[in-house]
Amino acid sequence: APDISLTNVKAHLAQLQSIASGNGGNRAHGSAGYRASLDYVKAQLDAVGYQTRIQPFTYGGATGYNLIADWPGGDTGEVLMAGAHLDSVTAGPGINDNGSGAAGVLEAALTVARTGYRPSRHLRFGWWGAEERGLVGSRYYVNSLTAAERTAIKGYLNYDMIGSPNAGYFVYDGDNSDGVGSGPGPAGSAEIERVIQSYFAGIGVATRGTDFDGRSDYGPFIQVGIPAGGTFTGAEGIKTSAQAQLWGGQAGVAFDRCYHRSCDTTGNINDTALDRNADSIAHAIWTLAGGS
Ligand code: PHE
Ligand code: ZN
Ligand code: ZN
Ligand code: ZN
Ligand code: CA
Repeated sequence: APDISLTNVKAHLAQLQSIASGNGGNRAHGSAGYRASLDYVKAQLDAVGYQTRIQPFTYGGATGYNLIADWPGGDTGEVLMAGAHLDSVTAGPGINDNGSGAAGVLEAALTVARTGYRPSRHLRFGWWGAEERGLVGSRYYVNSLTAAERTAIKGYLNYDMIGSPNAGYFVYDGDNSDGVGSGPGPAGSAEIERVIQSYFAGIGVATRGTDFDGRSDYGPFIQVGIPAGGTFTGAEGIKTSAQAQLWGGQAGVAFDRCYHRSCDTTGNINDTALDRNADSIAHAIWTLAGGS
């Protein structure tokens, strides 16, 4: 799989920061900052040949939008999706949560185009609205699918908070190998987990499982039996001393001290974590979609 340019991912984050700053400080559902974020991502994808579609929905008296981008080609009976929520909370610009995932998925999609990748499976990318209001956009998307469209989706890769300043390296626990938490994901989630783990093993970075506890946009996908996976670098949870031994950083401190706060700016990003996780997106896509 190709390397994902950290420079380019960070340029997308700078754009999202500037959009928030120019629109009252956030990119929340129903705000001008959200719509401008959507238009930014869409323009990038349109310019390189994606087939894009804006999917509007209503929540809390405001219009929200998902952005769906299809890469032409591949077997449309076997779809691999990758996605990230694009909205922030109202408290701040949401650069780690979730500019990081949105920018990482965007740069992976742009790299697909740049490298002329011809995957065996059909590739589709999604940027979700109103995640912060309860996974509203991703649920709307999954509910909008016909039964045939649903069964065609063979995997969904989710990226929400992949540049936490005091990062952990968490992979969604598709097989429930630790035997604790919410149980395994739908059949196929274990394979996704192994593919992502193999990327981190290859760069010598230890990972730990994180449960499908329903806190991000994979939720509506696994609810209808679509295999899912992805990575996460931690939110308000406190890094333990064992985790600090494993990954470095500060024990007794939150993975992201600026979680859902006004300080979740471009300064709230761990470049190393963002770089590794963005590269893992490409590894997962190229491995799971096949072709070359
Ligand atoms: N979805 C949460 C949010 O946007 C963050 C989170 C992501 C929590 C992944 C757990 C796992 O605030
Ligand atoms: Zn959040
Ligand atoms: Zn989030
Ligand atoms: Zn596992
Ligand atoms: Ca588990």
